[in-house]
Amino acid sequence: MTARTRPPPPGAEPTSRRAALDSRGPGSAARAEPAAGPDAELVRLRAECARADRDREALRCQLAQVEAERVALRGELADVNQHVARLHDQLLHPQRVESAGTLAAGLAHDMNNVLAAIMGLAEVALDDRLDPRLRSDLEQIVSEAERGAALTRSLLAFSRKGQYRKQVLEIDDTLRDALPLLAHTLPKTIELRCELGAGSVRVDGDPVQLVQVLVNFALNAADAMHGAGVLSLASAVVELESEPARLLALAPGRYVRLRVTDTGSGMDEATRRRIFEPFFTTKPVGKGTGLGLALVWGVVKGHLGAVDVESELGNGTSFSVYLPVTEAPLPAARGNTGLRRDLPADTTILVVDDEPVVRAGITRILERIGYTVLGAADGAEALRAFAAHQVSIGLVVLDMGMPVMDGAECFRQLRRVSGVPVLIATGYALDEQLQTMIAHGAAVIEKPFSSASLLVEVTRLLERRAAARRRAR
Ligand SMILES: Nc1ncnc2c1ncn2[C@@H]1O[C@H](COP(=O)(O)OP(=O)(O)OP(=O)(O)O)[C@@H](O)[C@H]1O
Ligand SMILES: [Mg+2]
Repeated sequence: MTARTRPPPPGAEPTSRRAALDSRGPGSAARAEPAAGPDAELVRLRAECARADRDREALRCQLAQVEAERVALRGELADVNQHVARLHDQLLHPQRVESAGTLAAGLAHDMNNVLAAIMGLAEVALDDRLDPRLRSDLEQIVSEAERGAALTRSLLAFSRKGQYRKQVLEIDDTLRDALPLLAHTLPKTIELRCELGAGSVRVDGDPVQLVQVLVNFALNAADAMHGAGVLSLASAVVELESEPARLLALAPGRYVRLRVTDTGSGMDEATRRRIFEPFFTTKPVGKGTGLGLALVWGVVKGHLGAVDVESELGNGTSFSVYLPVTEAPLPAARGNTGLRRDLPADTTILVVDDEPVVRAGITRILERIGYTVLGAADGAEALRAFAAHQVSIGLVVLDMGMPVMDGAECFRQLRRVSGVPVLIATGYALDEQLQTMIAHGAAVIEKPFSSASLLVEVTRLLERRAAARRRAR
């Protein structure tokens, strides 16, 4: 018996396995002759298996890494896509608003001609000898055409260009002037903060229009804050490099940035994209015309600037207006907006307009900032109201075309008894009659007007009257 036939020591390879190894055929036992032969093979195979396992594991790791990189890249790609979409949007948005303006202007122009023809023919056909029913129908046609004409005028107001009374001004001065009006525009529960940082840097601007821009922002912010929150106003000088300038469709350079930030409801993406479009509003009928920001857009464009908005639903809104800095010196006599501190808010204003909707609209705007408003539907009613409340009435807002007694006659009779400031609200072009009234101290606001322009005009007239009274004392 050789040692090989002895039973294996404990822990050795089981016999069946040996048998399996030995059963490789004749001579195999001879090849495995050295005692370690089959074990060495086994060790080698095991080592190979282990290496294969390691290789597989390494490959799996690499695969996982590649997968992770793929996921990260996909994320980055999504970011890039989003960024490109935003850039695309920013580049296209001005074009959209511009083309809305061009379309509006084109339509308004054609529509005006059609309406003028309708009005003209209906007026010619109006004859005292006509059957009363026919006459009343014709009058209705004229009145409806006039209503249509008012609408087309508001379209034209959005696209109107270049009607600015610009002057070199320090923007911080304009902001300081506007603060009291803004404070009056906002409910007392809203805090107004202001950080003036533009110093003596100047822009070429129309102070009245710029204040209207701010008032529009403030009115919107007040609506979005539902009576409570903070409205912050900040000015700064910024240097726009080529990329940020390109996004705003401006040339690189120095700009004054006015930023108006509120803590209101903010906007979702869909709203944010449309806010500058004329007539876009999310407010109920009668609460908003959707012209506020369209006019802001028009004014800023007219000043060769840009306006930008950041907003998030539930997280407030921030508007930034960029105006190019000018190196031109200030004019010797500094013009200002005519708006100052100490606004007489306890004044009564008489609003004269035959259209109840217009009267109610003006009343709403004026009452909102604390004025007491009396209404009258025609000139004669206005004179009676004036006689009864002369002491408290500080201003009359007067429509021109009214039944019973029109605006021109009412103004003439008012002037006989009082020098009260009169603001003529008219949708007609400056004619001789209007020129005469202006010569007698009337101011004019073109219908239809925004809340902001009405407030600016009213405040300006009341401040002028208060200043005259101070001087007279
Ligand atoms: N600060 C703001 N916070 C939240 N939404 C705003 C803000 N400013 C504007 N918006 C949104 O933009 C829309 C358009 O504003 P815009 O001032 O042009 O019109 P309006 O305020 O609706 O009407 P109008 O100004 O003619 O009274 C608003 O209806 C509102 O949805
Ligand atoms: Mg508005």
